[in-house]
Amino acid sequence: MKNLFSVQDKIVIITGGMGQLGRQYTLTLIEQGAKVAIFDRRVDVEWIAQRFPDTPNEDVLSFHAVDVTQHDSIVNALRQVNQKWGTPHVLINNAALDSPPNAPIEENGPFESYPEASFDQVMEVNVKGPMLCCQIIGEQMAAAGRGSIINIGSIYGLVSPRQEIYEYRAKNGEPFFKPVSYSISKSALLNLTRYLATYWARQGVRVNTLSLAGVFNHQDAQFLANYCAHMPIGRMANEDEYNGAIIFLASGASSYMTGSNLVVDGGWTAW
Ligand SMILES: NC(=O)c1ccc[n+]([C@@H]2O[C@H](COP(=O)([O-])OP(=O)(O)OC[C@H]3O[C@@H](n4cnc5c(N)ncnc54)[C@H](O)[C@@H]3O)[C@@H](O)[C@H]2O)c1
Repeated sequence: MKNLFSVQDKIVIITGGMGQLGRQYTLTLIEQGAKVAIFDRRVDVEWIAQRFPDTPNEDVLSFHAVDVTQHDSIVNALRQVNQKWGTPHVLINNAALDSPPNAPIEENGPFESYPEASFDQVMEVNVKGPMLCCQIIGEQMAAAGRGSIINIGSIYGLVSPRQEIYEYRAKNGEPFFKPVSYSISKSALLNLTRYLATYWARQGVRVNTLSLAGVFNHQDAQFLANYCAHMPIGRMANEDEYNGAIIFLASGASSYMTGSNLVVDGGWTAW
């Protein structure tokens, strides 16, 4: 079983690796023997020292200040990874913008007045970013004849958000609508996945989406109660509960899987 799910010595690029879930993927992959390069817009060395008190040495972990919307930024960081380790085996397109419950109020008004600029910003990071990373990093994988690309999706890219979860905020004087851009951006990834899965299938590069539900992150009690009432499993995900799916998709255990969407959502989309 250990060999079946082995990621030993695989070179993995994780975009948005400094975020809540990216950190989890990083630690798990390194624990399982992979080398991880984090491509994130923010690289906070002090923060890393605090959050990763047992930071693995540079042989298995490297940080790169990358904006995934900028072609040259990705190319430069990839060059560093190539020089250090070689051609990546796995790309996790994980960086994304969302509108969390504490986002500025103007971004979370009703659909009719959703700002065009916010839409553009979300689409740039959540759709153009993964497309560029696939183009630049996936090209190398295809030339090497192997690779696994994991596009991180969301339940809100599969079904509509339940706006009633957020209605309590209006009663508190802060109306909140889950914005349309996030849903559109995450559903776009499903067909980026299918397009590239077929495009590169004969060159050994597999491309899949991993669609996730909400992760517990100390949200307020009313939000948790509303959200979990619609969640068959009755709770939000713990931040380490997607690690198994990442290892599966990154390893040979998923060797016959491409163009698919793996849904790990506590049952949200079953209702
Ligand atoms: N947390 C959840 O509840 C949840 C639920 C479903 C899906 N997801 C998806 O999982 C992924 C990770 O979520 P998270 O909660 O860890 O997010 P997060 O906000 O904690 O982390 C996102 C990271 O992306 C980085 N980033 C943003 N823009 C960037 C850019 N232009 N270039 C490079 N890096 C950039 C940020 O600096 C940040 O470190 C996202 O794709 C998200 O949509 C999360």
